Amino acid sequence: MAAIKIKDHILAVGALDWDRRLFDELIPLPDGTSYNAYIVRGATKTALIDAVDPTKTAELLDNLQEAGVTHIDYLVSQHAEQDHAGAIPEILELFEEAVVVTNEKCKAMLMDLLLLPEGKFMTVGDGQTLDLGGRTLEFILAPWVHWPETMLTYLREDRVLFSCDFLGAHLAQSQPLLRDEARTLEAAKRYYAEIMMPFRTQIRKHLERLQGLALEMIAPSHGVVYPRPAFILDAYRDWTSDRTRNLALVPFVSMHGSTREMVEFLVNALVRRGVDVIPCNLTHTDIGELAKELVDASTVVLATPTVLGGAHPAVAGAAFLANALRPKLKFAAIIGSYGWGGRTVENLLASLGHLKVEVLEPVLAKGFPTDKDYRALDKLAAVIAEKHRGISARP
Ligand code: FEO
Repeated sequence: MAAIKIKDHILAVGALDWDRRLFDELIPLPDGTSYNAYIVRGATKTALIDAVDPTKTAELLDNLQEAGVTHIDYLVSQHAEQDHAGAIPEILELFEEAVVVTNEKCKAMLMDLLLLPEGKFMTVGDGQTLDLGGRTLEFILAPWVHWPETMLTYLREDRVLFSCDFLGAHLAQSQPLLRDEARTLEAAKRYYAEIMMPFRTQIRKHLERLQGLALEMIAPSHGVVYPRPAFILDAYRDWTSDRTRNLALVPFVSMHGSTREMVEFLVNALVRRGVDVIPCNLTHTDIGELAKELVDASTVVLATPTVLGGAHPAVAGAAFLANALRPKLKFAAIIGSYGWGGRTVENLLASLGHLKVEVLEPVLAKGFPTDKDYRALDKLAAVIAEKHRGISARP
């Protein structure tokens, strides 16, 4: 990237990672990502808000040089995860005067993860402020976004919120300010699903708290800067609400065609009844897409052949993911085919324990589906359509 002014006194100095395709060795990144860091200059002090992933330290240092930053008073560390904190040790070597400003929990984690010495820290509490000379940083503790030590930073005079991971998106874009609303919203929804959705209740509380702040700009630590905060805040209010959409998600695997036949029949039966459906063939659906669609689906129908007495591992993985992400699903069903027996339904249901769903009657065919299986699938579609009655469609 480069050092780019996003507002008077504020420069974006972070790094783009166009090529990264996997985060935490788990989350696919189809649009790359960015590790955003910001310089805030007051009349007397300079603060760096967050660092970058250790693989991008050189880029951050180049940007600081380009911005003419020769002195850093405060290095504000909002979150100890290495994609924002990993470059801190090298920054502290080059800017020996810098003090790491963070909360007690984050300090302990930075000492554990990066072996930083205790003497380098200044700890702050919720609501505490730091004067940079005419510019005031106010710290807002925001635990479980998505780690327990996360904090946000509000620049009072400019009404800018540095929101850390919160409200971000895994998206690499050459300019820091939002350009493409549709693309950004897709990336932000996927990011919310993968990272924030398990903490939906806490996220809602943080959103409520932000309502009391005058905001002109939100600058997260991934993705783009939002010059119109309502763009992302309204989306988060919708995603974190209890409202689901008239959408059934059908993650499936078929080994020899029987389960696929059942999925296709069910999908058509749902479509005929006015239910939006997304079948996800798990042999090539990336888990980020699946997570994104779980954000506002009302129903999930897991469709699987029976393998070694249970669900296909890819379907078992999808169930594990859905259970871990805790979407606001309301209904779940299991369909599929078996050769001679097994405990597919029991095993899958046991792995959905975190979900507050009503479990609908399963449909399991012995071998290829026959008339009675088609009738059962049709009935399942009718039940789902009835359960979805009155639920609005996706915009
Ligand atoms: Fe972007 Fe939780 O680190």
